[in-house]
Parts: sequence; structure tokens; C-alpha cells
Amino acid sequence: MRAHIQKGPQILELLKRKSVGLQHCKPTSSVCVLDSKDAAESGLDSIPGPTNWPLFGSLIELLRKGGLKRQHEALIHYHKKFGKIFQMKLGSFESVHIGAPCLLEALYRKESNYPQRLEIKPWKAYRDMRDEAYGLLILEGKDWQRVRSAFQQKLMKPTEVMKLDGKINEVSSQSIILTAKLYIDKNLKRQSNGKTGNFLCDIYHQSHLTKKELYAATTELQVGGVETTANSMLWVIFNLSRNPCAQAKLLKEIQDVVPAGETPRAEHIKNMPYLKACLKESMRVSPSVPFTSRTLDKDTVLGDYTLSKGTILMINSQAIASNEEYFDNGKQFRPERWLQEKSSINPFAHVPFGIGKRMCIGRRLAELQIQLSLCWILRDYEIVATDHEPVDALHAGTLVPSRELPVAFLTLD
Ligand code: HEM
Repeated sequence: MRAHIQKGPQILELLKRKSVGLQHCKPTSSVCVLDSKDAAESGLDSIPGPTNWPLFGSLIELLRKGGLKRQHEALIHYHKKFGKIFQMKLGSFESVHIGAPCLLEALYRKESNYPQRLEIKPWKAYRDMRDEAYGLLILEGKDWQRVRSAFQQKLMKPTEVMKLDGKINEVSSQSIILTAKLYIDKNLKRQSNGKTGNFLCDIYHQSHLTKKELYAATTELQVGGVETTANSMLWVIFNLSRNPCAQAKLLKEIQDVVPAGETPRAEHIKNMPYLKACLKESMRVSPSVPFTSRTLDKDTVLGDYTLSKGTILMINSQAIASNEEYFDNGKQFRPERWLQEKSSINPFAHVPFGIGKRMCIGRRLAELQIQLSLCWILRDYEIVATDHEPVDALHAGTLVPSRELPVAFLTLD
């Protein structure tokens, strides 16, 4: 294992230093005190983790725990067993896993100018084979920054994204009825389609991207974004079906804020804290993306450990968001937890869109799409549960329901 322990500076001291690259968060007061399971006991020179068998590493153990489809559950289990940080080898693939807000914060504060995710070689090979440019998901270094900054303004600035509400509504209003009748999945995918198209001309004219680069970036925005957004929408519908009180409160807020017969707009959403809390809570209890990754491009101190350049770091956001240490009654869907005036929730405890400079660029668009769609749906339908048996999440790129959702739409009078 390349990662090794070093008697490095403590996190508290590191946080006092000038922080770089802060994009979305003010410093929190969280200090990373690793519990005894994490600490460098008796001078061991490695991070704890599941048994590392010759050749296979922990692959067989992982397969026994349900395989890749249930890898997210295994990661939660390993964090419970080994603590905030552990290492794992699957065949020749070595990675270090972090599952605590303090470690995410430490990573975030040391982020370099061009953070990298795990390299996905087949995606690159596919693009190379077809002589196509890389998109945002797989670009690296200065090329990534150039494309990212071309899209950043239009996609991350709330006032810019709010301007897209008309386009979103055009599709939402027409598709919601179909959505309810034909069951939601396929239609929501269609609903989200093409949404990135209408501002591309602007980006093309304002940036120095070539048409080929623009096409590559746009394709990735759509491929990555559409499925993840539709999937998050499914989970929020599911959670509301099982929480009629939350649904009733949400409907009341919608009726109070959006006058009957009027089109729901981004301006309305601004005054709908409960709607935002419902989405946030749904993404916490039923995330679409359970983890993201970084390939460290410099030696990085995290907790008691110094991870060497080149280490693959998995950021286990689901493991954090489901941990009772950070969320009381964490299994419960309770939007109210996000509405307390003096919230004690650490902002790094819930990062469904990732962190830092490489965080999801479609975040605001996705949130607005889901929020507007919920307004359309709840004004016309009551979402009811058709059974109360468990619905597991399976990893299939995103976390998808293990069976057809036991949900029905009843027309409201
Ligand atoms: C609820 C829906 C969505 C979720 C949960 C989600 C989640 C994520 C996550 C976790 C990452 C990795 C961030 C990191 O490594 O720190 C990511 C990256 C990304 N997402 Fe999303 N996403 C969603 C919707 C969208 C949409 C609608 C788009 C397109 C408009 C999009 C485009 C992207 C792109 C391009 C990246 C890579 C950004 C970069 O590397 O600079 N996503 N997303």
C-alpha cells in the first residue's frame, strides 16, 4: 500500500493555515479526532482494512457480501468496522476510503487547482477510437479547467439556472400526466432530455471551445445528468409515498406559494424551504451516487495519515450520510432536520453532489428540475404506497431501486 502513516501536522493546525480553493463552504469547526480504530496504533505502517488475500485482496469477501451491486452496503459495513478511514485492495486495484466529514473537509481544504477523479480508461479509449473529444467527466488538468469554466457560469450560478425554469416547465407540464399514467421512470428520462441545449449557443460564442469540445462536454452533461436526475426523482417520489405527513406538508407549502392555476417558477421555489428540505433529505436517505473518487496529485495528510501522490481515494458520501453519529435517527426520512434554526449538521456530512472544484456542475439544474416536477405532480396527484415491504438500492452506475417501486398516483379532486 502506498499510503502510510506519518507523524504529520494535526488537522487543527492545518485548518489554521490559509485555505485554498474554497468554493462552496465556510470553514466548519470540525476537528478530525480519529477514534482508536483509526489511530496509528503501535506504529503500524498501514491503514486498517478488510483482509488482503494474495492476488485477490478483498475481492472474494466483497463478492460474498453481495458483489458489486451491493458494494455500497459493504462500504458502510467496513466504515462501521474500521472507522473513518480504511484501505482496500480488489485484485490489483488499491484504494483508501474516507467516511467522515472532518476528512472530507481536510481533503477539500488541500484541493489542488486541477483535482482528478479516478481515471476511467474505457471511456477514454471509446472516445479515442471514435476520434471524439473528452467531456468534463473525464478531462484532466488545464483542459478540464478550460471546459469547466466555459460551463461554470451558466450552470452553477443560481440566477442563470433560474432562467431555465420556463424550458423545464415546458417539458414538465406536458409529461407529468403521462408520467403518472405510464409509471415514472422512462418518462422522467425523456422529460430531462435536451435540457442543456438551449444555452449552448451562448457558451459557444462566449468561450474559446471548439465545436467538437462543446459537443463532447454536452454529451457528457446529458448522459451523466439525465439518468441521475431521473433516478433521484424516483427516490423522492418513493420517500413521499411512505411519508404521508411530509407529503401533506409539502402540498400545503406548494398551495400556499404557487397560486392555483399558475405555473410553478424558480421564483416560487425560493420561498419553499420544505420542498428543498424534502429533496435534500431524500438524497440523504436514498442517494443516487454513493461515492465519488479522487486520484491524489500530491502527498496529502488526512487525519493521522499521509497519503502519497497517486493514491486513489474514495469519498464515501453515503456512508457518512447514513451514520447515526452525524444524523440522529438517520434511517428516518425527516425533512425537518434541515429546517432547524441553529442546525448542528456539518456541511461535509451531506455531499450528494460531491465537493470542491470538481463537484457536480449540473447540481442546480438537477435540483430545479426535480423541485419544479414535484410541484406539478403534487398539485394533481397524491402519491401512495402500494406495499410497505423493503425496497433495496442496487448499484448499477447509480443506486437504483431493487424492484418496481410500490407507488401509485391518485388523482386529487
Ligand atoms: C440529482 C442529480 C445528480 C446527482 C446526484 C449528481 C451527482 C454527481 C456527483 C456525485 C459527481 C461527482 C462530483 C465529485 O467528484 O466531487 C458529479 C459530477 C458531474 N455531474 Fe452530476 N449529478 C446529478 C445531475 C447532473 C446533471 C443534471 C448534470 C448535467 C447537466 C450533471 C453533470 C455532471 C458533470 C459534467 C460532472 C463532472 C464535473 C467535473 O468533473 O468537473 N450531473 N455529479
